[in-house]
Amino acid sequence: MIPQRQDFPNGFLFGAATSSYQIEGHAFGGAGRTHWDDFAATPGNTAGAEDGAVACDHYHRWEEDLDLVAGLGADVYRFSTSWARVLPEGRGTPNPEGLDFYDRLVDGMLARGLKPAATLYHWELPSPLADLGGWRNRDIAKWFAEFADVLCARIGDRLWSVAPINEPWCVGWLSHFEGHHAPGLRDIRATARAMHHVLLAHGTALQAMRARGMENLGAVCNFELALPATDSPEDEAASRRYDAIFNRFFIEGMTRGGYPAEVLEGFAPHLPQGWEEDFTTIGQKLDWFGLNYYTCKRIAARPGPWPGYAEVPGPLPKTDMGWEICPEGLHDFLARVARDYTGALPLYVTENGMASTSGVQDDDRIAYLAAHLAEVRRAADEGVPVKGYFTWSLMDNYEWALGYAKRFGLVAVDRDSQARQPKASYHALAKAWAR
Ligand code: FCB
Repeated sequence: MIPQRQDFPNGFLFGAATSSYQIEGHAFGGAGRTHWDDFAATPGNTAGAEDGAVACDHYHRWEEDLDLVAGLGADVYRFSTSWARVLPEGRGTPNPEGLDFYDRLVDGMLARGLKPAATLYHWELPSPLADLGGWRNRDIAKWFAEFADVLCARIGDRLWSVAPINEPWCVGWLSHFEGHHAPGLRDIRATARAMHHVLLAHGTALQAMRARGMENLGAVCNFELALPATDSPEDEAASRRYDAIFNRFFIEGMTRGGYPAEVLEGFAPHLPQGWEEDFTTIGQKLDWFGLNYYTCKRIAARPGPWPGYAEVPGPLPKTDMGWEICPEGLHDFLARVARDYTGALPLYVTENGMASTSGVQDDDRIAYLAAHLAEVRRAADEGVPVKGYFTWSLMDNYEWALGYAKRFGLVAVDRDSQARQPKASYHALAKAWAR
């Protein structure tokens, strides 16, 4: 049974999340080319060479989609804005249709009583900026702040909250070290630079928004519980390295003005000159902190260059992503983030959910959501200042390199007709979140 609204502290907020490239359809409305279009156009990078050209056609169907969010009983809708839709060249002249779209969308949320929780960047880097080195180029901090400013000049007055960048780990490590996401690099130097510049851009965007007088600004990082594959000292050290790269690098940059020693072991020769001087910008005041949580990983030591580890399969039941279902990890991260980094700052679970093949009778998703919400509630009962939970995702969408086959939605989307059909999980949450 899914914990009910009344089981949580007064004022606790529920919601659903999506992102622009995954749902809007970047072929529409004058959006510029993004590095995801280029990545997907390169054979072997995405399942079936699928891209976000049409996605869920949310660009045209946004009213129906906002009705679905409202029908869920959600308080908050976490959405993202596409840099390439607003600035097709990444800089310079804005696309009026793009700004109009986000303007309508935000008004549509307000008209339905939904709090607009914006993420400025959920991975659709304009191709002209990728040509200049993208996240490897320090100037991206300036370009990104300009984008934040142009966008917020139009919609900033009506946003409930803003996070500059979704999941810096994916922007940095997954995309430049593992090569699984655009731009598909496997290069340690590119990774170190991208990871530092992502944080710098986070800081400059926050400065730009504060200068406009905006409030309720935060950050969203993803977390994965790193468990040693065995209790050997080698595997334990390997899992500490994984934890430092995944779970500590970004939040320590933002809140402690430095990077973990375990990461500097690998990154020191590659970080851009003068990186130590950037923490005043990176460490901008935060009003809240968001955690995306899905799974745990088993980490084993491996010979070879830093970081010297590999992921090995674990024993727990898995989602259609092959990710182990490990709800306690969500409780543990909420408690750990508050204890080690953010203190009394409001925390939000900004993403959590599962890919499933079970279609509209998705009892497995209901069980996943129930188990994770119970862990959020446990953290809240212990006094961790967690103030909301937003599930991933409103509807089945473009799951990046895995294409459209991985289905995270509370609402099924027919790929041909684009018809939306709420699943059992949608109805179960709507019941639990009723006021
Ligand atoms: C997160 C991303 C989101 C989606 C889910 C499954 O890492 O933020 O776009 O891909 O995973």
